[in-house]
Amino acid sequence: MPSRNAAQWNTPPNSLRIDEFVDSRIYSDPMIFEEELEKIWKKTWIPVCHESEVPEPYDFRTLTIAREPIIVVRGPDNKIRAFLNICPHRGMLIERRPSGSFMEGQASGNPKHMTCMFHGWQFDMKGNCVMITREKEGYQDRISRKDLGLRELRCETTFGNFVWVTLDDNNPQTVQQWAGPALECIQKNLDGAPLEVFHYHKAIIGCNYKLWHDTNSEFYHDYMHYHNRITGFNDAYFARKNMAFDNGHVVVGTFEVQYEKYQGAHSRAALSFPGLPPNQWYMVDLFPGANFNLRGSALRVDLMTPLGPDKVLIEFRGLGLKSDTAEERMQRIEHHNSIWGPFGRNLHEDLIGVAGQGTAMQTGAEPRRIIQARHENETIHDEIGMRHFYQEWGRWMNRLPSDPTRKYMEAAE
Ligand code: FES
Ligand SMILES: [Fe+2]
Repeated sequence: MPSRNAAQWNTPPNSLRIDEFVDSRIYSDPMIFEEELEKIWKKTWIPVCHESEVPEPYDFRTLTIAREPIIVVRGPDNKIRAFLNICPHRGMLIERRPSGSFMEGQASGNPKHMTCMFHGWQFDMKGNCVMITREKEGYQDRISRKDLGLRELRCETTFGNFVWVTLDDNNPQTVQQWAGPALECIQKNLDGAPLEVFHYHKAIIGCNYKLWHDTNSEFYHDYMHYHNRITGFNDAYFARKNMAFDNGHVVVGTFEVQYEKYQGAHSRAALSFPGLPPNQWYMVDLFPGANFNLRGSALRVDLMTPLGPDKVLIEFRGLGLKSDTAEERMQRIEHHNSIWGPFGRNLHEDLIGVAGQGTAMQTGAEPRRIIQARHENETIHDEIGMRHFYQEWGRWMNRLPSDPTRKYMEAAE
C-alpha cells in the first residue's frame, strides 16, 4: 500500500462501516467537549469515591463533575450526602481542601460545621444554613436561613459502598438501573464484605478522557506489555468475551490467571474477594468514564474527570477488605501494585499510549479516522466494546462518532 496524499489521507476507507471508525474531532474539538459536559457528564450517575474515604462522621472529600465543585460529607447520622461546594451567599467555594474533617473548628468557623471563610456563613452536615453573619442587622427579616441551604445532589452509596452522584435531579434512573446489570457479575464480590481503599494516586494526562476508556477496553496493545507478552497468557485469556450492556457499559468476562507463570508471582487464591473463584479476573467498563477491575485479591477502580478536550484527571484506587489483617493487607497491596501501581506492569504503558495519541490529537488538529474495526467473535481482541461505547455516545450527543457534523439519529435511520 503506497503512502497517501492529503485527499487520500482525509478519505475514510470505504470498506469500513460507519461504526468501525470514529472521527478524531470527538477527542479534540472544544465545542464537542463542552457539549459532552452538558449532555453526558451532567446527566449520568458518576461514581466519585468510596465510603471508606470518609470513614468518620464529619469527614469530607471535594471533587468536581463537569467543572461543578462538589463536596461529599458523612453526617453525624452516618449518612453520606453530596452538595454543590458553593456558598449561597456570593458563590465562593466553601471548602478548599481536597479532604479532611469538620470535627475540629477552622480559623474562621465552628467545629462540626461547614464554614464559608469569605463572610462566615455556616452550614450543618445536612446542608442546612445555620448561621448568617449580622443576620438581623443586615437583612432584618427579609431573608430566612431556611431558604439559604446548600444545593443537595442525588447521592447513592452502593455496589461495594461506592459513592455515586448525579447532577441531574430529573435523572430517571437509580444507580441500580443505570449500572446494575453490568456490575451484576461482581456484585456479590463487592458486597460480600466491607471494602476499604488502600491505594490512591492520581494523574493528569494530556489526552481526551475517551482515549483512556479506549485503551482500557482493547486488549491487544500487547506490544507495549513486555511482561504480559512473555508470561501469563493462555488460550482462556484470549477467549474471554466482551459483553455489551445497556447504557454503553461493557463487561470483560472472567478467566483464571496463571500467576505461577508470572516471574516472581504466586497464586492469589488465598486472598480472593468473597465469592470470587480463585485467581479470577473481571473487568467492568462503565459509560462514560469509570472502570472496575477485580483481579483475584485486589480491586482497581479508575475514575475519570475530564478537564478539557485534551486533559483528563484519572484517580486510581486499590481496594481490599476492611477486615484484612496487617499481613493480608500488605499482600493485597503488593498484588495490586505489582500490576497497577505507578511502577506496576500494566499501567505506565497505557499512559504512554494515550499520551502519544493526545499529542497527535490536540485541539485544532485536522480530522483523522480512528479505526475500531476488529471483529474476533466478540472476544477481548474484538473491538465490540469500543463500538458499543461510541453508539451510546452518539445517542447522548446526537452526533455521529464517525462524522460529528452529522446527527446520530438521522444517520441511524
Ligand atoms: S460568599 Fe460565602 S459567606 Fe459570603
Ligand atoms: Fe495496557
